Amino acid sequence: MNPKEVSELLRTRRSIFPGNYTGEKVDDAIVEEMLENANWAPSNKRTEPWRFKVFTAAGLTTLAEFQSNLYKELAEKKGTFNEKTYNMLSTKPLKASHVIAIMMKRDEKESVPEVEEVEAVAMAVQNMYLTATAHGIGCYWGSGGITYLEEAKPFFGLGKTDQLLGFLFIGHPKATPETGKRNPIQDKVEWVRS
Ligand SMILES: Cc1cc2nc3c(=O)[nH]c(=O)nc-3n(C[C@H](O)[C@H](O)[C@H](O)COP(=O)(O)O)c2cc1C
Repeated sequence: MNPKEVSELLRTRRSIFPGNYTGEKVDDAIVEEMLENANWAPSNKRTEPWRFKVFTAAGLTTLAEFQSNLYKELAEKKGTFNEKTYNMLSTKPLKASHVIAIMMKRDEKESVPEVEEVEAVAMAVQNMYLTATAHGIGCYWGSGGITYLEEAKPFFGLGKTDQLLGFLFIGHPKATPETGKRNPIQDKVEWVRS
């Protein structure tokens, strides 16, 4: 493996949003490779807490309907209903080729702290992001809408101690993404040499 190519892959990975997808279907084989690579993420005590539910074809409508209806029901109860949010939730999944629900399944023995299970899932998602990038496929982790909601859990087959952490939207990018921006790593690191 060429380290320069690995660095290039890591640094050119970008979040690409559904509005920037062509609408063309991504090959299921690529999504399967993303999922297989997700499964190679590390986890403390090998709890492997990542769980995924893949929505594609008519499944995208199922997700769009579920999330917009749930939003409506909860927001109307609270008096916070917003038509724009509702419309966004009913249309956004349809712009993607696949949407993967990102979930954390809490180990029954709770053998590691919950935060470590979430960390392990995030590592699995990064594997998916990088696999997509290597194939020239766009994706992005969205944590808006019904993410984290208790009321959403049954639909995804999640129990009380599990978590819905968001959605990975996947599609063919319309254009090559722009170069990303980061503040210097030197501002975030301290070396201790003595
Ligand atoms: C846990 C997590 C949740 C995110 N949720 C959102 C989101 O809800 N909406 C959004 O626009 N971007 C979201 N993002 C993507 C970030 O906007 C994106 O990673 C950031 O702007 C850096 O861009 P890059 O991924 O192209 O380097 C999320 C990223 C992570 C890791």
